[in-house]
Amino acid sequence: MKKADLKNLLNDMSLEEKVMQLVQIPGYEFEQDAAVTGLTDKKTSDKVKELAGSTLGVWGAKKAIELQKKYMENHPHHIPLLLMLDVIHGHKTVFPCPLGQGATFDPEVARAGAAIQAKEAASEGVHVTFSPMADLSRDARWGRVLESTGEDKYLNGRMVGAMVEGYQGESLKDKDHVAACVKHFAAYGGAEAGRDYANVELSEHTLREQFLPAYEEGIKAGARLVMTSFNTLNGIPSSGNKWLMRDILRKDMKFNGVLISDWAAIAEMVNWGFAEDMKEASRLAMDAGVDIDMCTGCYSGNLQNLVKEGKISEKLLDEAVMRVLELKNDLGLFEDPYRGASVEKSLKVCLCDEHRKVALDAVRKSLVLLENKNNALPLSGNKIAFIGPYVDEKKIHSSWAISGDPKANVTIKEAVEELYGKSDVKVKFAKGCNMLLDKTDIGSGVAKENDRKNKTLIEEAVKTAKWADTIVLCLGEDIGQSGESTSRVDITIPAPQKDLFSAISAIKNKKTVTLIFNGRALDLQDIPDKSDAVLICWRPGTEGGHGIMDVLSGACSPSGKLSMSFPWASAQEPIHYDHYNTGRPKPKEGLSIFSTRYLDCPNEARYPFGFGLTYSQFELSKVKLSGKTLEKSAKDAFIEASVTIKNTGNVTATETLQLYIRDMVGSRVRPVKELKGFEKVTLAAGKSKKVTFRIEESMLRFFTINNKFESEAGKFVAYIGTDSATDNGAEFELI
Ligand code: GLC
Repeated sequence: MKKADLKNLLNDMSLEEKVMQLVQIPGYEFEQDAAVTGLTDKKTSDKVKELAGSTLGVWGAKKAIELQKKYMENHPHHIPLLLMLDVIHGHKTVFPCPLGQGATFDPEVARAGAAIQAKEAASEGVHVTFSPMADLSRDARWGRVLESTGEDKYLNGRMVGAMVEGYQGESLKDKDHVAACVKHFAAYGGAEAGRDYANVELSEHTLREQFLPAYEEGIKAGARLVMTSFNTLNGIPSSGNKWLMRDILRKDMKFNGVLISDWAAIAEMVNWGFAEDMKEASRLAMDAGVDIDMCTGCYSGNLQNLVKEGKISEKLLDEAVMRVLELKNDLGLFEDPYRGASVEKSLKVCLCDEHRKVALDAVRKSLVLLENKNNALPLSGNKIAFIGPYVDEKKIHSSWAISGDPKANVTIKEAVEELYGKSDVKVKFAKGCNMLLDKTDIGSGVAKENDRKNKTLIEEAVKTAKWADTIVLCLGEDIGQSGESTSRVDITIPAPQKDLFSAISAIKNKKTVTLIFNGRALDLQDIPDKSDAVLICWRPGTEGGHGIMDVLSGACSPSGKLSMSFPWASAQEPIHYDHYNTGRPKPKEGLSIFSTRYLDCPNEARYPFGFGLTYSQFELSKVKLSGKTLEKSAKDAFIEASVTIKNTGNVTATETLQLYIRDMVGSRVRPVKELKGFEKVTLAAGKSKKVTFRIEESMLRFFTINNKFESEAGKFVAYIGTDSATDNGAEFELI
């Protein structure tokens, strides 16, 4: 529809119709098996149901077509309904969770995955995905770190931008693509003590330097929607934060798309004590520029009166409604309200071999090898025991893969039987223990019963382990221990699995490989010391078993790099590599009294951001700089930092070179390192390659004491290494 026609449509709509375009109702008001991803306390009236502009949680071509048909027949202006869904890391073909995708350090993995997810979701009638999540995630107590690509703003920005491009393609008129929604704006990852829905206290410079960049990359990539976050930022709920939404998001970041609240976030401003009642909450949200009210009665019950009372201008209302109509128009819904929905097409594209192949590649690249003593991997045993609750577990996706089909997931056991079925390697399987003691895992009647069962399971597993020459332990968090509202203070593997690990690792003269399925960084306790190899598998999704066995068997070398620091202890959280130095940094050796330290734990992460082993070994030369000075005022000036990397091992492998920069002195103190670039390098044994990174003045800017982004002359160090703990650096000066 032409813009002028949209304008005429808007002018022709009643006040009630306009208001209802800004109302999103839960999908179960239309389909009883719709996904429910929030709390709702009230039934939607028939009137609202007839006029609401969008819904969420519904998918399925037949359902979507029937729903749209019926809805448009009833609508006075036959305006199509928007169908939105959380397609976070997979629709039917489920990819590794975003934290695992971050570990690939490969934006192409994110882009390709998002494009496939969009194609599958669009074929089942979805128009908008509530993804990518761009929250900087430094605190592994927070269950939603699962949905982010990790603790680094630069990596997150690269991955988020690629996901938006994958979801949206060149044009939203292309029916294989969906509109992307960057969330949760803003700084949800900084929630107090890692708890959902909590307050975030951030200085403006930390907000702007660390927490905002990844959202901005998503907006630069063209994301058509942004979602407000549940948290308050320095005491102001995001959905009512005019400075955040109008000054930062719309003015500074030039976002002119649709701003949707998170589920009930507008009404929750009353709980926060920021609004007297839902009417005031509605006024504050509209004033802040929130276009769509997700799943509360705020806008539907109050906006008309607010306009009639002159508390909200009809102009402001019209601007919001026009943004929603433009989104529908750009999706081509006025011309084809059913868009790409087709049962035949969905049967063809969902979980097709081509998509599974791309997902398999993503799994392989996401796995992070933390330990590999005496080349325990690739597997070389003749009698291998696969033991643990994840041996035969179908739920290796994440709690956010709400439209995925767990039955389609390839388990470890299935992949092992395929791999070794016709070989002379003998394999055995044992569950070893239940995933959890019980749902809360803090002991209850159920727990005592489970405890008995676990003892029996462990005894059986020990027998199986004694038979084998190699043991592969398949352990990890339960699917319900990460995702929304799943914060944990003890980020270790569940209790029964600790007992199993102790029993199995006590058996002498066995090679023990431990796989970890996780939705967050974990405190691995004694697992690394008592295992010969440790592989981090995240929530790998549909092709999990195949990808993991490809790496274990040596069909491909692991190449993943940690997207989050793994701590020595839960109490170290939040922990991140790009911290400040402090006035008394702990000396690397010698007396550490009167320095920044714990008496009972190192300051550093156990496994730092960016860390991951391969099946080969690499050597790096010292960093060479093309020049010692970079002129701040010279146009297009740059210097180059380079290293020569050599594969000194026996197999082809892929290493990820990471460029970090440290600003030695600033008008505000600066992080000890900041990731500014990365490059994956695949080399055959014995081969070398020179890798060069370009350093420009713009990469040195930060939010200075003048409260603007600018660089400051002075000394810098450029590091190039294979993780954030590298000290392979060279100094240069900005003049
Ligand atoms: C949930 C989540 C958000 C999701 C939305 C819709 O509460 O916070 O990430 O997109 O509701 O399901």
